[in-house]
Amino acid sequence: MYKMLDHRRSLLLKTMGIAQWQRRDGGSITESVPEEIIPTEIIPLEVIPVEAISEPPQPVKVEVPVQREAPRPHVEDSWQCIDYEVKQCTACDLHQTRTNTVLGVGNRQADWMIVGEAPGRDEDQQGEPFVGAAGLLLNQMLRAIGLKREQVYIANVLKCRPPNNRDPRPEEVTQCLGFLQRQLDQVQPKMILSVGRHSAQNLLKTEESVGRLRGAVHQFGDKKIPLIVTYHPSYLLRKPLEKRKAWADLQLAREIMNKARV
Ligand code: URA
Repeated sequence: MYKMLDHRRSLLLKTMGIAQWQRRDGGSITESVPEEIIPTEIIPLEVIPVEAISEPPQPVKVEVPVQREAPRPHVEDSWQCIDYEVKQCTACDLHQTRTNTVLGVGNRQADWMIVGEAPGRDEDQQGEPFVGAAGLLLNQMLRAIGLKREQVYIANVLKCRPPNNRDPRPEEVTQCLGFLQRQLDQVQPKMILSVGRHSAQNLLKTEESVGRLRGAVHQFGDKKIPLIVTYHPSYLLRKPLEKRKAWADLQLAREIMNKARV
């Protein structure tokens, strides 16, 4: 910087015809313009930019706000609580006959949540929902609309097996439904696929049959989550001709989700 200013000053003095000069501060030094910079022709003077002679500007730190999705609050804590409470639960008689509680399985941040009725024998043995024959068909149904089992979250209305796979009793559902609600609150799915009568009737608080509830888009809870009702895989194993309707229900659910993405 200094070298450059000396050079410019010399040029300026030379252009004005001054070969020697004395410092204004009274200094005794008389300086000469070095020969090598005496111009042979007039060089147009440039305006020396202010920033060249003042303090160099300090870099200004600009805080760029980072946009992040709001984290889901205390997800792990809550899941741990739900899991613990379900395992400890003795709120109805089903705890006396269960082998394992069956909380749920899959992606806890899934867009899709599948809600069945209650664990059967295989599920009671393994502590995981839909692992028996009905589970295999459910997996196929999911695959038909491009979903892997691990991608969705699967749970039941009841967390313990009713003996001999009898229907859930109202008092059992009343005791257990809070756990499902807490799971739904944690997962916050964008689509609920309700399979079977007990799932549909308890989620939608209705006495209507699956036949009447299917084929429409329902809404669940305050957040109005789209909910599609279809036949339970166990029913479809007994009545394979109904698979055609179940296929249409799945297509409807897929369509809703595709539209929601646009
Ligand atoms: N039927 C259900 O409703 N849920 C299961 O987990 C298994 C069979």
